[in-house]
Amino acid sequence: MIKLQGLYKSYGAKNILNGIDIEVNKGETVAIIGPSGAGKSTALRCINILERPDKGTLTIGEKSYDLAKLTSKEILEIRQSTAMVFQNFSLFENKTALQNITLPLIKAKKINKDEAEKIAIENLTQVGLLDWKDHYPSQLSGGQQQRVGIARALALNPEVILFDEPTSALDPEKVQDVLEIIKRISKEQHITSVIVTHELEFALDVADKIMFLADGKVVEEGTAKEVLKNPKDERTVKFLGHFADKLEYVI
Ligand SMILES: Nc1ncnc2c1ncn2[C@@H]1O[C@H](COP(=O)(O)OP(=O)(O)OP(=O)(O)O)[C@@H](O)[C@H]1O
Ligand SMILES: [Mg+2]
Repeated sequence: MIKLQGLYKSYGAKNILNGIDIEVNKGETVAIIGPSGAGKSTALRCINILERPDKGTLTIGEKSYDLAKLTSKEILEIRQSTAMVFQNFSLFENKTALQNITLPLIKAKKINKDEAEKIAIENLTQVGLLDWKDHYPSQLSGGQQQRVGIARALALNPEVILFDEPTSALDPEKVQDVLEIIKRISKEQHITSVIVTHELEFALDVADKIMFLADGKVVEEGTAKEVLKNPKDERTVKFLGHFADKLEYVI
């Protein structure tokens, strides 16, 4: 289980996150939606300590961390328990698909090279890319690069995978492939995950819970159906209004 309580983050004088609580039970998928600039990416980056939170408590399994005073050992522990999948893939351009996966296993998890390669091959197979293992990112399509990003996150065997708009940089025809893989991870493998997404149909399908973030706060949460069908806060109503024609068919 992952529990984030009272997360605050500001940049200079600007408050970005104003007390965010997120709770994800083991095996659950939580979707986060909300307007641009709401702080969705910042929240995920604070969970992974890519950004330093100002205040808050993070609980991963039995262990709680005071986010205001993290030691470097704790930062390492948190990073090892949480893996990110980025909008822009964030692969090493000068490493092959296989090396992109083995590198963090060898460096951060201190797994030996042979074992790391075995794990990488298993995970590349899972995302249907075994034949592409020796290709460099520039030789892969956006969808394939994102599948490497997902395989890299899975290979780390984290407590939670954090997806930050994993399909928004993809060509429309590649979006479904990647969503299918995430859906499989969520529904069949029950990997605990938090997904920031604008794909509401997908969220309705896979998310156990949806959170709507606006102005650095969770203004609404519930089952996907509750939030998408009966939004209560006016900011949620306005946001969902932009997706009205799509939602009409899925709800
Ligand atoms: N490193 C930074 N320095 C200063 N301000 C930042 C930094 N990173 C983000 N911000 C600001 O924090 C706010 C929230 O940004 P964030 O990227 O978390 O939003 P978001 O909800 O992910 O938006 P989008 O849907 O466009 O990705 C924005 O106003 C952004 O300009
Ligand atoms: Mg973002």
